[in-house]
Amino acid sequence: MNVSVIVPAAGQSTRFGESDKLIQDLGGRPLLIRTIELLSKREEVNQILVGAPPEDLEQFRERFAATLGFLGATVVEGGRVDRWETVQNALHHVSPDATHIAVHDAARPGVSMALLDRLFEAARSKAAVVPGVRINSTVKRVSSESETVRAIEEDGVADAILGEVGRVEIETLKVLETVSREDLMEIQTPQIFDADLFRRAYAQEDLSGTDDAMLVERLGESVYVVEGDVGNLKVTTPSDLTLIRAVMGVRGPEKRPVHKQF
Ligand code: CTP
Ligand code: MG
Repeated sequence: MNVSVIVPAAGQSTRFGESDKLIQDLGGRPLLIRTIELLSKREEVNQILVGAPPEDLEQFRERFAATLGFLGATVVEGGRVDRWETVQNALHHVSPDATHIAVHDAARPGVSMALLDRLFEAARSKAAVVPGVRINSTVKRVSSESETVRAIEEDGVADAILGEVGRVEIETLKVLETVSREDLMEIQTPQIFDADLFRRAYAQEDLSGTDDAMLVERLGESVYVVEGDVGNLKVTTPSDLTLIRAVMGVRGPEKRPVHKQF
C-alpha cells in the first residue's frame, strides 16, 4: 500500500474569527503541524501534500515549509474558494506510484493511530473508506430563517439608563420535523480511496459537495464507513480549540512557562 495524503489547508477560518485556526498553539506547536505529524508517522504514507492558500502562499511557505519539509510534507497551491479546488489542485502533484489517495482536513489534529489502523486496513479490500460516528442526539430539521425574540425589560430603571443596550435579543428557529437518527452517521476525515477511483471522481463535471466521498457516490460507486473517533474533531470555532486541547491533554499557551510559548 502506497498512500499519498492530500491535506487541504487553504481555508479562510471565517467561522473561527479574527485569526487563522491552523496557526493556533496546540501543546507548543501550530495546529497544522500537529495534524501532519500524525500522518508522517505512518509507514503506508509516502507523500503528504499540503494545499496552501494561493493568496498567502509565500507567507505560508515562510511559516511552515521548513518544518513540513522535515516531516516529509510538500506545500502546493490550494484553491481560493471551495475545498474541492484545493484537492483538485493538489491532485496534479500526486505521485504516479500511489496506490491510494487519502484526504485529511488540516483542521483535524486529533485523529488517533487506532483510527488510521482501521482505515488503512479496510482500504486494502474496499475502494472508498471513510470514518463515521453514530449520532446519539435527537435530530430536527429547522427553518432557514430565524425569528428574533426581544426580552421584555422588567427593570424600568435599567432600561432608562441603558436604553437599547440593556435589551436582549434571542434568535429562534422553528422546528419543521424530527428526523430519525437511526442509520445516520457524522462523517469525518481522513477519507481514503483507490487512486484510480479517486482520479475518476475528480474528473467529473460537478465537484460541489462537502466531502470527497460524495464525488465517489456521484459516480455510483460504493463507499464504506469504519468506526470514527469522537476525539477527531474539526476545529471550526474557538470553542472547538478549547475542546481539542482538552481531548489531547495539552494546555493553552498562556498556561505554559514563558520560554515555552511562541
Ligand atoms: N479548505 C481548503 N481550501 C478551501 C476551503 C477549505 O483547503 N478553499 C480546508 C480548510 O483549510 C480546512 C478544511 O478544508 O482544513 C475544512 O474546511 P473548514 O473547516 O470549513 O475550514 P475553513 O474553510 O478555513 O473555515 P470557514 O469555513 O469557517 O472559513
Ligand atoms: Mg470552509
